[in-house]
Formats: sequence, structure tokens, C-alpha cells
Amino acid sequence: MEYNNLLSKNEAGLLIVTINRPEKLNALNKETIAELSELLTEAEKNNDVKALLLTGSVEKAFVAGADIKEFSNFNIEQGQQLASLGQKSLFDKVENLSKPVIAAVNGFALGGGLELAMAAHFRIASKNAKMGLPECSLGLIPGYGGTQRLSKLIGKGKAMEMIMTSQMLDAESALKLGLVNYVVEQGELIDLGKDLYAKMRKNSMQAISAAIKAINASDRNDVNGYDIEIEEFGKCFGTDDFKEGTTAFLEKRKANF
Ligand code: COA
Repeated sequence: MEYNNLLSKNEAGLLIVTINRPEKLNALNKETIAELSELLTEAEKNNDVKALLLTGSVEKAFVAGADIKEFSNFNIEQGQQLASLGQKSLFDKVENLSKPVIAAVNGFALGGGLELAMAAHFRIASKNAKMGLPECSLGLIPGYGGTQRLSKLIGKGKAMEMIMTSQMLDAESALKLGLVNYVVEQGELIDLGKDLYAKMRKNSMQAISAAIKAINASDRNDVNGYDIEIEEFGKCFGTDDFKEGTTAFLEKRKANF
């Protein structure tokens, strides 16, 4: 499928998705959000896609935020709709995708850009990356899940400080806070994503999907995460991957998933 603001290529099951609005530092306008949402729906259904790596097309930017121009004259109702539609159609969809989503933060990840990266299952960054939620500097607060996900990832106090001061974190600080898992040179970032994917592929992707569901349940108030873990754990016993994984162990060979 062709998109105006996205590039994608499938490398051995890893769908590398590049947000591509270079003249606006990949800011998330309505069209880009809709395209990402559609791409995720397609990726979820496509058996040739096993995992996704999200990145930005400009050397200095992953995503510089939601498109400020688009909402600059919105009223209260339109503001609420913007956040609600964005959360439901994209950010929650990223988090709940049954396939691993890694954000490769290659430069500025600000506002909606950091929120997108935080919705991914985990993040890796290049040394030049800068991350922040500067919405209060615009008279706003984060609306795509940032107030919730940032506190969970780095703790409430630090999230409060980052949001209140609009301070950007450099990559090393983000690494220390656990916001990103690795920091590498920009030229090595995509290869690192591919290496992590290769490690996952040695495992059962069915089990990984179950793990995503159970881990995500720890953030939900409407279910008991331990109950979801029991349910997902049980379901694994009905999969071919479970048979293969345990048989391979007992036969002292590598599993072939
Ligand atoms: N929304 C809309 N347009 C954006 C944007 C955003 N979030 N971020 C950058 N752009 C646009 C700029 O308006 C500019 O467009 P123009 O050339 O038509 O004027 C273009 O992208 C390049 O940005 P510029 O500001 O010139 O680059 P810079 O290197 O000087 O600064 C940033 C980079 C990221 C520091 C700066 O663009 C910025 O602060 N962006 C907004 C960040 C933000 O507040 N995000 C949260 C939004 S909720």
C-alpha cells in the first residue's frame, strides 16, 4: 500500500516504517496519524509482518510533535476530539498490537513524537536524540497518552518535572531514566533494531504476543493483570509453538518456530 507520509519496507519480517514529512520534521498531522493507523491494521493482519520498527526520515527528527498548525484554532470540543481520536486510532493501537513494535528514535521526539515512541513496546535511540513533552510551553498538556505513559516509564516525579519545565532529555539521560533501552551512533540505529528483532525471532512469536498482552495488562485498571497472565499462560499450552519449544528442549535441539 502507498502512503503520502510513510515509507515502509519489509526486511525478513521486520516492517521498517519511516515517518516521512521531512519539511515539517515529521510532525504528526491528521493524514499521517490516519496512515499510521491504517498501516498498523494491515500489519496486524499480514502474516509476512512479524514485528515493526518505527523511525523518522530526517536525520535530526524522529517526530517533532503533533502538527501545531493544524490545531492552532481549535476550541475545547475539537481539542478533546483530537486527543480522543488520536489515542484510540493510533497510540492505543501501537501499544496493543500483537506484534512487537520498537521505536528507533533518531532525533527530536517531542510531544506526539515522544508519545508515539512511548506507545511502542520499547525504544532505542541514537546519540543525537532529544526527547521531551513541551506541550505546557504551548498552553497545552500532552494529549496522546503522554501524561500516563511517561510517569509509568520514568516515575511520577521525573515526569512531572519534564512536563512542567518542557525540558528535553538527551539520549544518555533518557537511557539512565529507562526511557530508552539502548543508545548508539545514528548510523547503527536501524541495525540495532534488526539485531533485537533477530533475537526475538529465535523465540515463539505466539508466545511474544501473549507476553505483550499480559505485560500491557499491568497498566489497565479494568482487568487484573495476574488473571490475564494466567489466561495467556494457559493459552500457550494449546499452541504448536509450545509443543515445538518443549519438544526441542527435551530433544536437546534448537526450536524451529
Ligand atoms: N508542528 C508543525 N510544524 C512543525 C512542528 C510541529 N510540531 N515541528 C516543526 N515544524 C515545522 C516548522 O514549523 C518548520 O516549518 P516551516 O519551515 O514551514 O516554518 C519546519 O518544521 C522546520 O522546523 P524548525 O523549527 O525550523 O526547525 P529547528 O531545527 O529550528 O527546530 C524544533 C526544531 C524541533 C526544536 C522545533 O521545530 C520545535 O520546537 N518544534 C515544535 C516542538 C513541539 O512543541 N512539539 C510539541 C507539539 S504538541
